[in-house]
Amino acid sequence: MIKKRLLTTVIIGVAILFIAAGIYAKIVPDIIELNDPAYAKHKKGIVKFTHGKHQSEYAKEYPEFYKNNCGECHHDKDNKPLTGLKEGDDVEKCIECHKIPSEVPKKLKKEWRKKKISKDEKKKKKMEYHAEAFHENCRGCHKKFNKKYKPKKAPTTCAKCHPKKKK
Ligand code: HEC
Ligand code: HEC
Ligand code: HEC
Ligand code: HEC
Repeated sequence: MIKKRLLTTVIIGVAILFIAAGIYAKIVPDIIELNDPAYAKHKKGIVKFTHGKHQSEYAKEYPEFYKNNCGECHHDKDNKPLTGLKEGDDVEKCIECHKIPSEVPKKLKKEWRKKKISKDEKKKKKMEYHAEAFHENCRGCHKKFNKKYKPKKAPTTCAKCHPKKKK
Protein backbone atom coordinates (compact mmCIF):
# COMPACT_ATOMS: atom_id res chain seq x y z
CA MET A 1 0.00 0.00 0.00
CA ILE A 2 2.68 2.47 1.08
CA LYS A 3 4.81 1.35 -1.84
CA LYS A 4 1.98 2.10 -4.26
CA ARG A 5 1.46 5.55 -2.84
CA LEU A 6 5.17 6.27 -3.14
CA LEU A 7 5.13 5.22 -6.77
CA THR A 8 2.16 7.51 -7.48
CA THR A 9 3.97 10.40 -5.79
CA VAL A 10 7.07 9.80 -7.88
CA ILE A 11 5.04 9.66 -11.09
CA ILE A 12 3.21 12.87 -10.27
CA GLY A 13 6.49 14.52 -9.28
CA VAL A 14 8.13 13.61 -12.57
CA ALA A 15 5.06 14.81 -14.49
CA ILE A 16 5.22 18.19 -12.73
CA LEU A 17 8.91 18.52 -13.59
CA PHE A 18 8.17 17.90 -17.26
CA ILE A 19 5.33 20.43 -17.29
CA ALA A 20 7.49 23.01 -15.51
CA ALA A 21 10.28 22.46 -18.04
CA GLY A 22 7.75 22.93 -20.84
CA ILE A 23 6.54 26.24 -19.42
CA TYR A 24 10.10 27.36 -18.83
CA ALA A 25 11.07 26.58 -22.40
CA LYS A 26 8.15 28.69 -23.54
CA ILE A 27 9.38 31.72 -21.63
CA VAL A 28 12.68 32.05 -23.49
CA PRO A 29 12.84 29.84 -26.55
CA ASP A 30 16.34 29.04 -27.85
CA ILE A 31 15.37 30.21 -31.30
CA ILE A 32 12.95 33.09 -31.76
CA GLU A 33 11.31 33.65 -35.13
CA LEU A 34 11.30 37.41 -35.56
CA ASN A 35 7.97 37.53 -37.31
CA ASP A 36 6.26 40.47 -35.67
CA PRO A 37 2.53 40.50 -36.43
CA ALA A 38 2.57 44.32 -36.65
CA TYR A 39 3.85 43.85 -40.21
CA ALA A 40 1.04 43.41 -42.75
CA LYS A 41 3.59 41.53 -44.83
CA HIS A 42 7.25 40.70 -44.37
CA LYS A 43 9.14 41.56 -47.56
CA LYS A 44 12.18 39.54 -46.56
CA GLY A 45 12.56 35.98 -45.27
CA ILE A 46 11.80 35.58 -41.56
CA VAL A 47 14.89 35.83 -39.34
CA LYS A 48 15.40 32.85 -37.03
CA PHE A 49 17.28 34.45 -34.16
CA THR A 50 19.46 32.17 -31.99
CA HIS A 51 18.52 33.88 -28.72
CA GLY A 52 19.90 31.03 -26.61
CA LYS A 53 23.33 31.06 -28.27
CA HIS A 54 23.53 34.84 -28.19
CA GLN A 55 22.69 35.26 -24.53
CA SER A 56 24.73 32.33 -23.21
CA GLU A 57 27.39 30.97 -25.59
CA TYR A 58 28.47 34.20 -27.30
CA ALA A 59 28.11 36.22 -24.09
CA LYS A 60 30.52 33.86 -22.34
CA GLU A 61 32.96 33.68 -25.22
CA TYR A 62 33.05 37.42 -25.97
CA PRO A 63 32.33 39.19 -22.67
CA GLU A 64 33.70 42.50 -24.00
CA PHE A 65 30.63 42.75 -26.25
CA TYR A 66 28.26 41.94 -23.40
CA LYS A 67 29.20 44.45 -20.71
CA ASN A 68 25.49 45.10 -20.10
CA ASN A 69 24.48 41.42 -20.15
CA CYS A 70 20.90 41.12 -21.39
CA GLY A 71 20.91 44.92 -21.56
CA GLU A 72 22.96 44.80 -24.77
CA CYS A 73 19.63 44.19 -26.47
CA HIS A 74 16.92 44.85 -23.85
CA HIS A 75 16.42 48.37 -22.46
CA ASP A 76 13.73 50.44 -20.80
CA LYS A 77 11.64 53.35 -22.03
CA ASP A 78 14.58 55.73 -21.55
CA ASN A 79 16.98 53.46 -23.44
CA LYS A 80 18.67 52.45 -20.18
CA PRO A 81 20.08 48.91 -20.51
CA LEU A 82 18.23 46.28 -18.45
CA THR A 83 21.43 44.91 -16.96
CA GLY A 84 19.69 43.07 -14.11
CA LEU A 85 17.34 41.00 -16.28
CA LYS A 86 17.19 37.31 -15.38
CA GLU A 87 15.97 34.13 -17.03
CA GLY A 88 12.23 33.99 -16.60
CA ASP A 89 11.67 37.78 -16.37
CA ASP A 90 9.16 39.22 -18.75
CA VAL A 91 10.40 41.62 -21.44
CA GLU A 92 8.56 44.01 -23.71
CA LYS A 93 8.67 43.40 -27.42
CA CYS A 94 10.73 45.87 -29.41
CA ILE A 95 7.62 46.93 -31.35
CA GLU A 96 6.12 48.40 -28.14
CA CYS A 97 8.49 51.35 -28.52
CA HIS A 98 9.94 51.06 -32.02
CA LYS A 99 6.44 51.24 -33.37
CA ILE A 100 6.57 51.66 -37.13
CA PRO A 101 6.78 48.23 -38.81
CA SER A 102 9.24 48.92 -41.67
CA GLU A 103 12.56 50.53 -42.56
CA VAL A 104 12.60 54.30 -43.15
CA PRO A 105 10.99 54.86 -46.57
CA LYS A 106 13.50 56.13 -49.18
CA LYS A 107 11.36 59.19 -49.87
CA LEU A 108 11.51 60.25 -46.25
CA LYS A 109 15.29 59.75 -46.12
CA LYS A 110 15.60 62.09 -49.11
CA GLU A 111 13.42 64.65 -47.38
CA TRP A 112 15.58 64.52 -44.27
CA ARG A 113 18.67 65.09 -46.39
CA LYS A 114 17.07 68.07 -48.11
CA LYS A 115 16.02 69.59 -44.80
CA LYS A 116 19.54 68.96 -43.44
CA ILE A 117 18.20 67.74 -40.10
CA SER A 118 20.85 67.15 -37.47
CA LYS A 119 22.48 63.79 -36.93
CA ASP A 120 20.86 63.42 -33.50
CA GLU A 121 17.41 64.23 -34.79
CA LYS A 122 17.83 61.82 -37.67
CA LYS A 123 18.86 59.02 -35.34
CA LYS A 124 15.86 59.68 -33.14
CA LYS A 125 13.42 59.61 -36.04
CA LYS A 126 15.08 56.55 -37.52
CA MET A 127 14.75 54.59 -34.29
CA GLU A 128 10.96 54.97 -34.46
CA TYR A 129 11.15 52.33 -37.20
CA HIS A 130 11.17 48.74 -36.00
CA ALA A 131 13.42 47.31 -38.72
CA GLU A 132 15.95 50.14 -38.29
CA ALA A 133 16.19 49.49 -34.55
CA PHE A 134 16.82 45.81 -35.24
CA HIS A 135 19.39 46.46 -37.94
CA GLU A 136 21.20 48.92 -35.68
CA ASN A 137 21.23 46.44 -32.79
CA CYS A 138 22.12 43.28 -34.70
CA ARG A 139 24.44 44.63 -37.37
CA GLY A 140 25.94 47.17 -34.99
CA CYS A 141 27.38 44.50 -32.74
CA HIS A 142 28.29 42.22 -35.65
CA LYS A 143 30.29 45.00 -37.37
CA LYS A 144 32.27 45.71 -34.22
CA PHE A 145 32.80 42.00 -33.71
CA ASN A 146 34.09 41.47 -37.26
CA LYS A 147 36.54 44.34 -36.95
CA LYS A 148 38.05 42.82 -33.84
CA TYR A 149 37.92 39.11 -34.68
CA LYS A 150 38.92 39.06 -38.34
CA PRO A 151 38.63 36.65 -40.11
CA LYS A 152 35.75 35.40 -37.92
CA LYS A 153 32.47 36.65 -39.20
CA ALA A 154 29.12 37.55 -37.69
CA PRO A 155 26.62 38.14 -40.52
CA THR A 156 26.15 41.62 -41.99
CA THR A 157 24.67 40.78 -45.40
CA CYS A 158 20.92 40.48 -46.01
CA ALA A 159 20.68 36.81 -46.95
CA LYS A 160 22.73 35.65 -43.96
CA CYS A 161 19.96 36.83 -41.63
CA HIS A 162 16.91 36.78 -43.93
CA PRO A 163 16.71 33.35 -45.57
CA LYS A 164 15.69 33.42 -49.23
CA LYS A 165 11.92 33.19 -49.53
CA LYS A 166 10.46 30.12 -51.17
CA LYS A 167 8.34 31.06 -54.15
C1 HEC B 1 21.77 39.71 -28.67
C2 HEC B 1 20.53 40.31 -28.24
C3 HEC B 1 19.82 39.75 -27.02
C4 HEC B 1 20.37 39.39 -25.82
C5 HEC B 1 21.82 39.45 -25.37
C6 HEC B 1 19.26 38.94 -25.01
N1 HEC B 1 18.08 39.04 -25.71
FE1 HEC B 1 16.23 38.49 -25.04
N2 HEC B 1 15.44 38.93 -26.89
C7 HEC B 1 16.13 39.52 -27.93
C8 HEC B 1 15.22 39.75 -29.03
C9 HEC B 1 15.57 40.38 -30.35
C10 HEC B 1 13.95 39.25 -28.64
C11 HEC B 1 12.65 39.27 -29.44
C12 HEC B 1 11.97 40.59 -29.17
C13 HEC B 1 10.75 40.85 -30.04
O1 HEC B 1 10.20 39.90 -30.61
O2 HEC B 1 10.33 42.03 -30.14
C14 HEC B 1 14.12 38.74 -27.27
C15 HEC B 1 13.11 38.17 -26.51
C16 HEC B 1 13.23 37.84 -25.18
C17 HEC B 1 12.15 37.32 -24.36
C18 HEC B 1 10.73 37.04 -24.85
C19 HEC B 1 10.73 35.64 -25.44
C20 HEC B 1 9.51 35.30 -26.28
O3 HEC B 1 8.88 34.29 -26.03
O4 HEC B 1 9.22 36.04 -27.21
C21 HEC B 1 12.66 37.14 -23.10
C22 HEC B 1 11.88 36.63 -21.89
C23 HEC B 1 14.06 37.54 -23.13
N3 HEC B 1 14.38 37.95 -24.42
C24 HEC B 1 14.92 37.50 -22.04
C25 HEC B 1 16.30 37.73 -22.11
C26 HEC B 1 17.21 37.55 -20.97
C27 HEC B 1 16.79 37.15 -19.56
C28 HEC B 1 18.47 37.82 -21.45
C29 HEC B 1 19.79 37.76 -20.70
C30 HEC B 1 20.10 36.53 -20.01
C31 HEC B 1 18.33 38.18 -22.86
N4 HEC B 1 17.01 38.09 -23.21
C32 HEC B 1 19.39 38.51 -23.69
C33 HEC B 1 17.47 39.83 -27.94
C34 HEC B 1 18.38 39.55 -26.95
C1 HEC C 1 10.16 50.47 -23.39
C2 HEC C 1 10.52 51.01 -24.67
C3 HEC C 1 11.56 50.31 -25.51
C4 HEC C 1 11.65 48.95 -25.82
C5 HEC C 1 10.74 47.83 -25.36
C6 HEC C 1 12.77 48.81 -26.70
N1 HEC C 1 13.34 50.02 -26.95
FE1 HEC C 1 14.98 50.39 -28.12
N2 HEC C 1 14.95 52.37 -27.58
C7 HEC C 1 13.99 52.96 -26.79
C8 HEC C 1 14.29 54.39 -26.67
C9 HEC C 1 13.47 55.42 -25.91
C10 HEC C 1 15.47 54.61 -27.42
C11 HEC C 1 16.20 55.95 -27.65
C12 HEC C 1 15.74 56.51 -28.97
C13 HEC C 1 16.39 57.82 -29.30
O1 HEC C 1 17.58 57.81 -29.65
O2 HEC C 1 15.69 58.83 -29.25
C14 HEC C 1 15.86 53.32 -27.96
C15 HEC C 1 16.98 53.13 -28.76
C16 HEC C 1 17.31 51.95 -29.39
C17 HEC C 1 18.46 51.76 -30.25
C18 HEC C 1 19.55 52.81 -30.53
C19 HEC C 1 20.57 52.54 -29.43
C20 HEC C 1 21.58 53.58 -29.21
O3 HEC C 1 21.79 53.90 -28.03
O4 HEC C 1 22.16 54.08 -30.16
C21 HEC C 1 18.42 50.47 -30.69
C22 HEC C 1 19.42 49.80 -31.61
C23 HEC C 1 17.25 49.83 -30.09
N3 HEC C 1 16.61 50.75 -29.29
C24 HEC C 1 16.89 48.51 -30.29
C25 HEC C 1 15.87 47.84 -29.58
C26 HEC C 1 15.59 46.42 -29.67
C27 HEC C 1 16.31 45.46 -30.59
C28 HEC C 1 14.56 46.16 -28.81
C29 HEC C 1 13.94 44.82 -28.47
C30 HEC C 1 14.86 43.75 -28.06
C31 HEC C 1 14.20 47.42 -28.18
N4 HEC C 1 15.01 48.42 -28.67
C32 HEC C 1 13.18 47.59 -27.24
C33 HEC C 1 12.91 52.34 -26.20
C34 HEC C 1 12.64 50.98 -26.23
C1 HEC D 1 26.12 42.05 -28.48
C2 HEC D 1 26.52 41.55 -29.76
C3 HEC D 1 25.50 40.92 -30.69
C4 HEC D 1 24.23 41.35 -30.97
C5 HEC D 1 23.50 42.55 -30.40
C6 HEC D 1 23.69 40.45 -31.96
N1 HEC D 1 24.62 39.50 -32.29
FE1 HEC D 1 24.40 38.00 -33.67
N2 HEC D 1 26.27 37.31 -33.23
C7 HEC D 1 27.12 37.84 -32.28
C8 HEC D 1 28.31 37.01 -32.18
C9 HEC D 1 29.49 37.25 -31.24
C10 HEC D 1 28.14 35.95 -33.11
C11 HEC D 1 29.09 34.76 -33.34
C12 HEC D 1 30.19 35.05 -34.31
C13 HEC D 1 31.13 33.84 -34.43
O1 HEC D 1 31.45 33.21 -33.41
O2 HEC D 1 31.51 33.55 -35.57
C14 HEC D 1 26.84 36.18 -33.76
C15 HEC D 1 26.33 35.35 -34.76
C16 HEC D 1 25.10 35.52 -35.38
C17 HEC D 1 24.58 34.67 -36.45
C18 HEC D 1 25.25 33.44 -37.08
C19 HEC D 1 25.32 32.29 -36.10
C20 HEC D 1 24.01 32.01 -35.45
O3 HEC D 1 23.99 31.94 -34.20
O4 HEC D 1 22.97 31.88 -36.13
C21 HEC D 1 23.34 35.18 -36.78
C22 HEC D 1 22.39 34.68 -37.87
C23 HEC D 1 23.09 36.33 -35.92
N3 HEC D 1 24.18 36.51 -35.09
C24 HEC D 1 21.93 37.11 -35.94
C25 HEC D 1 21.67 38.17 -35.07
C26 HEC D 1 20.42 38.93 -35.05
C27 HEC D 1 19.23 38.67 -35.96
C28 HEC D 1 20.56 39.89 -34.09
C29 HEC D 1 19.58 40.94 -33.66
C30 HEC D 1 18.27 40.51 -33.23
C31 HEC D 1 21.90 39.73 -33.50
N4 HEC D 1 22.53 38.69 -34.12
C32 HEC D 1 22.41 40.54 -32.50
C33 HEC D 1 26.91 38.98 -31.54
C34 HEC D 1 25.73 39.75 -31.52
C1 HEC E 1 22.17 40.80 -38.62
C2 HEC E 1 20.92 40.36 -39.19
C3 HEC E 1 20.28 41.16 -40.29
C4 HEC E 1 20.87 41.60 -41.45
C5 HEC E 1 22.32 41.45 -41.90
C6 HEC E 1 19.83 42.27 -42.22
N1 HEC E 1 18.63 42.23 -41.51
FE1 HEC E 1 16.84 42.99 -42.12
N2 HEC E 1 16.01 42.56 -40.35
C7 HEC E 1 16.64 41.85 -39.34
C8 HEC E 1 15.73 41.73 -38.22
C9 HEC E 1 16.03 41.02 -36.92
C10 HEC E 1 14.53 42.39 -38.60
C11 HEC E 1 13.24 42.60 -37.78
C12 HEC E 1 12.45 41.34 -37.64
C13 HEC E 1 11.09 41.34 -38.22
O1 HEC E 1 10.98 41.25 -39.45
O2 HEC E 1 10.10 41.43 -37.47
C14 HEC E 1 14.73 42.88 -39.94
C15 HEC E 1 13.75 43.54 -40.68
C16 HEC E 1 13.89 43.89 -42.02
C17 HEC E 1 12.83 44.43 -42.85
C18 HEC E 1 11.40 44.69 -42.39
C19 HEC E 1 10.64 43.38 -42.32
C20 HEC E 1 10.26 42.83 -43.69
O3 HEC E 1 10.58 41.65 -43.95
O4 HEC E 1 9.64 43.54 -44.49
C21 HEC E 1 13.35 44.63 -44.09
C22 HEC E 1 12.63 45.17 -45.32
C23 HEC E 1 14.75 44.23 -44.03
N3 HEC E 1 15.04 43.77 -42.75
C24 HEC E 1 15.64 44.29 -45.09
C25 HEC E 1 16.98 43.97 -45.01
C26 HEC E 1 17.94 44.19 -46.12
C27 HEC E 1 17.56 44.72 -47.49
C28 HEC E 1 19.17 43.79 -45.65
C29 HEC E 1 20.52 43.86 -46.36
C30 HEC E 1 20.89 45.18 -46.85
C31 HEC E 1 18.98 43.33 -44.28
N4 HEC E 1 17.66 43.46 -43.93
C32 HEC E 1 20.00 42.84 -43.47
C33 HEC E 1 17.93 41.34 -39.36
C34 HEC E 1 18.87 41.56 -40.33
